[in-house]
Amino acid sequence: MENNVQNQLKSIKDSAIKDFTKAQSTAELYNFKVQYLGKSGALTEAMKLMAALPKEDKPLFGKLVNEVKAELETVYFDIESKIKNKEIDAKMQNEKLDLSFSAASFPLGHEHPIFKVTNEIVSIMSRLGYSLRTGPLIEKDYYNFEALNIPPNHPARDMQDTFFVDESHVLRTHTSPIQIHSLENEKPPLRIIGTGSVFRCDSDISHLPNFHQIEGMCVDEKVSMADLKGTISFFVKEFFGPNLKTRFRPSFFPFTEPSAEVDCSCPICKGKGCSLCKQSGWIEIGGCGLINPKVFEFAKIPYPQWQGFAFGFGIERMAIIKYGVDDIRHFPKNDIRFLNQF
Ligand code: DAH
Repeated sequence: MENNVQNQLKSIKDSAIKDFTKAQSTAELYNFKVQYLGKSGALTEAMKLMAALPKEDKPLFGKLVNEVKAELETVYFDIESKIKNKEIDAKMQNEKLDLSFSAASFPLGHEHPIFKVTNEIVSIMSRLGYSLRTGPLIEKDYYNFEALNIPPNHPARDMQDTFFVDESHVLRTHTSPIQIHSLENEKPPLRIIGTGSVFRCDSDISHLPNFHQIEGMCVDEKVSMADLKGTISFFVKEFFGPNLKTRFRPSFFPFTEPSAEVDCSCPICKGKGCSLCKQSGWIEIGGCGLINPKVFEFAKIPYPQWQGFAFGFGIERMAIIKYGVDDIRHFPKNDIRFLNQF
């Protein structure tokens, strides 16, 4: 084989090794690799010389080219791994980790204040032996009104502005129907609470069309107004703390006799009078009373063998008093600036 072909291969090899050695980065090194070993690199071009060689020289030439190629690849990988290690070392120097740096915070959700209050009420009442019940949001007229001693066309229906679903179904206007479901399906003695959404066609600074109530009912052999007052006073003190005052005002509900309304002193003005408490110094949280014998009659529970008391409070009202919220309409808005305060 002509010496000159061999020299040409040698000079490609030498110059490739020289270039590989002078590369400063893996990127630069790779460019040199392409220049010598790539598809249109120097070595591939040199292969073309084979065509001009006599037949007997071709195998030797092919062997030489392959040897040069293999040697260059070895050198390449060797240099590449050295440069890579250097690059990793440099990176570690430049990107020192501060392990004491606090992790990026990401926002965590939490319970809506209404559910927080509900859970707290349930937990207080469960300590008095009450267990939780639920009921449907769409109620038969019978459960929402009739069985609670509110017959059709009775003026007491006007106390609650009702959304009718059809002639015999309503969006429940209070949680009191839960009492009837419990009386029908369970055997006394009973201590139950029921919570959830209720609906009334009403909306202003202290009323929402969809709000929440908590209902309580105790049925036992001897139950008096003293038991009712004791239970509610305990509950209110546990929930609001010892500083809040409560008062019971005689009132009327068709399903209780006698009946009372429960007020708490206004947390905003501390009883002096403000727009939230309508200048009265008091905020009503709900009603209560001894279960009307008529209700027992509807539910087929023998009276006076079994007697009971019941109460129903507005959960938004309780949250307003507890947290000093100035407008009930903040609750359903879900403005994070408001919710983050709880
Ligand atoms: N259901 C009544 C309302 O929404 C509140 C109420 C009053 C519930 C007296 C009771 C009760 O259980 O005994 O206005």
